[in-house]
Amino acid sequence: MKKRIEEAINLQIDREMYSSHLYLSMAVWAESNGLSGTSKWLYAQALEERTHMLQFIQYLNGRGGKVIVPAIMQPPQMWENVKELFSEVLKHEQFITDSINEIVFLCTEEKDFTTLNWVQFFVNEQIEEENAVKEILDKLNLLGDNNMYLFDRDIFALRTAKTASEKA
Ligand code: FEO
Repeated sequence: MKKRIEEAINLQIDREMYSSHLYLSMAVWAESNGLSGTSKWLYAQALEERTHMLQFIQYLNGRGGKVIVPAIMQPPQMWENVKELFSEVLKHEQFITDSINEIVFLCTEEKDFTTLNWVQFFVNEQIEEENAVKEILDKLNLLGDNNMYLFDRDIFALRTAKTASEKA
């Protein structure tokens, strides 16, 4: 495994772990503000990010690379409202997409076609994740600030449908 690829994957491990931590903090905030559907969506997303982190760890270990388990930076604890929160989720996912694209770029430079092939899963995953969050922001714009009850009920249904289709 080339050093630059190993470093990029370790950076991705750090970023997936932080993503998990960020969504966990958001889930706690949503739960403490009575938004149980929103918090369930975010708790599930935090778990999914942890799974992503494990996938990168196991891939790097399996290829004989050196995994560095990172310290986790403390995420923010408060958001103005749900719309601000999901705008932050979208911004963060766009940052993760750029980070995955950087791995793709390095793989082509280093001619590591095995990693290039493996990381395609995450290229597709980012399209799905960004679209899911954009859909949520569209809903929030449609419903307006006074319809948090409807939004909260809907977002839980969205997450449940996604989990069911992944299990099918
Ligand atoms: Fe693991 Fe949401 O990117």
